Amino acid sequence: MKVFLLNGSPHANGCTYTALDEIARQLDRHEVGCEIWQIGAKPLAGCVACGGCRREPNQCTQGGEAAEVIAKIKDADGVIIGSPVHYAGIAGNLSSLLDRVFFAKDSFAGKPAAAIVSCRRGGNASAHDRLNKYFTISQMPVVSSQYWNGVHGNTPDEVRRDLEGMQIMRTLANNMAWLMKCIKAGRDAGIAFPEPEPRVGTNFIR
Ligand SMILES: Cc1cc2nc3c(=O)[nH]c(=O)nc-3n(C[C@H](O)[C@H](O)[C@H](O)COP(=O)(O)O)c2cc1C
Repeated sequence: MKVFLLNGSPHANGCTYTALDEIARQLDRHEVGCEIWQIGAKPLAGCVACGGCRREPNQCTQGGEAAEVIAKIKDADGVIIGSPVHYAGIAGNLSSLLDRVFFAKDSFAGKPAAAIVSCRRGGNASAHDRLNKYFTISQMPVVSSQYWNGVHGNTPDEVRRDLEGMQIMRTLANNMAWLMKCIKAGRDAGIAFPEPEPRVGTNFIR
């Protein structure tokens, strides 16, 4: 059983990483494996709506990192995406990548997911909401914690001193491990994810 953790910050070992690392340590206590994947600091292209992924699902003409992330999410039992708060939203590079990942994927349905954010002072709730939107349009059960999943700090040390934030991360890890185990127990007992109806698309044209 493993969780894929995506660090959407340009800082490999910054505040977002510190929160994700706290989650990974707690998941380890539940004997759940983890990979923390960092987005890097070079600019990433956004979705150009070329439709290439409609012809070749799980691939993206804009760059290999989207296909890599799709494969890692599909291979994991759960996913956690972390972002620093940039102007009350998520980091620009992460937005570019996730638009392509979630548009190009064939399905992440039934895979538990959680978002976490790190900010110095404000805008964490809107950034958290934005990340959750990717999951809630993709039939992914959203895992929650004892408070909205965020830490406060401008440095890793400040984040570690946000004791409540650190506890929120550990509770989130506990809940993620619990849900993944429940889903596996259900699958082993023959409870499959619901079969989808044929897709209806209504573009508000009458
Ligand atoms: C471009 C930019 C915009 C930011 N906007 C906000 C903001 O709106 N609210 C806030 O509290 N912090 C803001 N910050 C601070 C970061 O969110 C904060 O330092 C975060 O913990 C850094 O995480 P990281 O080390 O993982 O990158 C901003 C930082 C940058 C670089």
